Amino acid sequence: MKAMYHPGIHKYALFLVAWAVVLLTAGALVTSEDAALAVPDWPLSYGSLNPPMVGGIAFEHSHRLIAAGLGFLIILLAFLLWRYEERRWMKWLGFAALGTVILQGVLGGLVVLKLLHYWLPVMHACTAEIMFALLVSIAVFTSRWYMQDLPRYADHGSPTIHFIVTLNSLVIFLQVLVGAGFRHKYISLKPHVFGAPIVLAIVLWTAAALRLRFPDVPAMVRLRKLLHSIVGLQILLGVVALWARINGADDPQPMLPVVVSTVVHTVVGAFLFATSIATVLVCDRLVPRRREVLLATAKREVPA
Ligand code: HEM
Ligand code: HEM
Repeated sequence: MKAMYHPGIHKYALFLVAWAVVLLTAGALVTSEDAALAVPDWPLSYGSLNPPMVGGIAFEHSHRLIAAGLGFLIILLAFLLWRYEERRWMKWLGFAALGTVILQGVLGGLVVLKLLHYWLPVMHACTAEIMFALLVSIAVFTSRWYMQDLPRYADHGSPTIHFIVTLNSLVIFLQVLVGAGFRHKYISLKPHVFGAPIVLAIVLWTAAALRLRFPDVPAMVRLRKLLHSIVGLQILLGVVALWARINGADDPQPMLPVVVSTVVHTVVGAFLFATSIATVLVCDRLVPRRREVLLATAKREVPA
């Protein structure tokens, strides 16, 4: 059965992506403001849904409220996909998003109850990136572009474009992981700084492979330009964040340059990872895998 394009569901998915950007920013603000333990209890805040919004409590509690909002919005998304989507795997993807947001909420609670131990803040930071990439993927899968009949393009290069774009996402994710390890004081900054040229190299390789193999495919052109600009911006932001941290090392509390640069660097990290995942999805949609090509050729050769 051919799936139908549902403009309402796609627009709703885009709205959730925008909500998640606000949530990532609110979460990163909690870390950058050193406000993680401003509220000692969970799921309520000081035993209430409406604690006094002062100091660190304002950051922590508003993060919790925006996160709860995303949870409710995802329940509706899962329902809409279950009710109206023709593609079975999309119905399950809605539930996967719901499972991820619940896991993320529980991890957030454990971060507080276990007083930032056991790498929980790092896991919470990394699951946030996965959550965001999942919502971006749902927006891609429900788009008119993805659902229309599209030409497919043969990949004559080696290694395959699917391998390159997947490796690209993996390397970016590892860079985020070590960034979070440093930000939450579990490891030194060294792996993250050494990781930056590796990320740059793999992004440049990905963009070059897309340019050489698929020079005129509009979606690929857009994505490779986006990958290029975001990685450049991210490295610049990383240097600024580091400079601000070194400069503000003796301040009694995090000052504006540290807060702004570290929050923006964290959120743009999520953009880079999500764009790399979108690239994987677009290549999957437009470029047949070798075994698909072989299967199609074999079918054509068998006489009817
Ligand atoms: C459900 C969706 C949620 C998302 C997408 C999310 C996302 C984030 C992000 C991106 C950060 C910043 C991580 C960093 O900068 O390294 C963060 C920090 C934090 N979040 Fe959440 N969060 C969610 C739910 C929650 C919930 C329900 C709680 C409940 C307590 C919570 C508690 C925290 C705390 C305490 C921090 C600061 C951790 C630290 O500084 O060590 N989060 N969150
Ligand atoms: C190449 C691409 C890069 C990516 C994808 C990236 C990504 C990230 C992310 C996502 C975080 C926050 C992790 C979290 O807790 O959620 C982070 C933290 C950090 N990154 Fe990067 N980063 C990159 C390059 C750099 C560079 C070149 C530098 C500096 C030379 C740098 C310096 C930092 C610092 C100092 C932090 C911790 C911020 C803090 O102290 O709160 N990053 N990075």
